[in-house]
Amino acid sequence: MNAPLLMVENLRVTYPAGRRHVTAVRGATFTIERGRCLGVAGESGSGKSSLARGLLGLETHVAGRVVFDGQEVLKLDRAGRLRFRRRAQMVFQDPLGSLNPRMKTGAALAEVLRVHGLVATRAETERQVARWLETVGLDGAYANRFPHELSGGQRQRVNLARALCVGAEFLVADEPVSALDVSVQAQVLNLLKSLQETRGITWMLIGHDLAVMRHMADEVMVMKDGAILEQGPAADVLARPAHPYARELLAAVPDVGRALARRRPGATVSD
Ligand SMILES: Nc1ncnc2c1ncn2[C@@H]1O[C@H](COP(=O)(O)OP(=O)(O)OP(=O)(O)O)[C@@H](O)[C@H]1O
Ligand SMILES: [Mg+2]
Repeated sequence: MNAPLLMVENLRVTYPAGRRHVTAVRGATFTIERGRCLGVAGESGSGKSSLARGLLGLETHVAGRVVFDGQEVLKLDRAGRLRFRRRAQMVFQDPLGSLNPRMKTGAALAEVLRVHGLVATRAETERQVARWLETVGLDGAYANRFPHELSGGQRQRVNLARALCVGAEFLVADEPVSALDVSVQAQVLNLLKSLQETRGITWMLIGHDLAVMRHMADEVMVMKDGAILEQGPAADVLARPAHPYARELLAAVPDVGRALARRRPGATVSD
């Protein structure tokens, strides 16, 4: 058997708050196999984003173990951290907020490629930019657009290209489609799914929407108050949530699939 790509053991994330502190994640233990998608669900404030930032080494007050491809993430030196950053990337909810408004798409991608030393010449840079835009389903002409000249879905595609072009094999997507129009959500989700299938990308997908989880995730984890309440194969957890809280969460979330099928041009957005 292959070792899992990611192993997280008893991860704790706290935030100092004066003389006290907030414990956002209280001991999370799980693994993600290569090429699989782990869905993380839970109400607002349950610790999903803190868990993600904690395991990527982006938080200061973290305890526990994170092992990525055999490496102890929380013990990496500077050079090790930079290499890890290339392999493990985060995609955020707000696609506009994570793009520099004054930088055209092509220049933004070129900068990332240069910073990581992945391109030597101008021709090489242009070729790589075009290739990554194409990978996320954007025509090369989009290299000349500013973020405000893109739709929300296109912006999220640019963010994905930026994460992938450095060679990321593990992506943490923190509510990657919740800022997008419902009709665009499915397109971006299908892109994520196809990247998992064609490029063998391993995912951690954070979200509220369990219909999305059902479509995307192989395993699902439900968080509440910083703890993992339930975890297992997506089909089991979503079909038969053992915990009353997980059942409530399932009942509370509108089914995007149904909403998609129902919503027609001109229909009012009420759910
Ligand atoms: N920078 C911070 N400083 C202090 N407390 C924080 C900080 N970030 C998060 N918290 C607290 O940690 C807890 C978990 O927050 P977190 O952002 O991880 O939740 P979440 O599950 O991602 O929520 P949402 O679904 O709203 O994004 C919350 O109680 C929150 O108030
Ligand atoms: Mg969050």
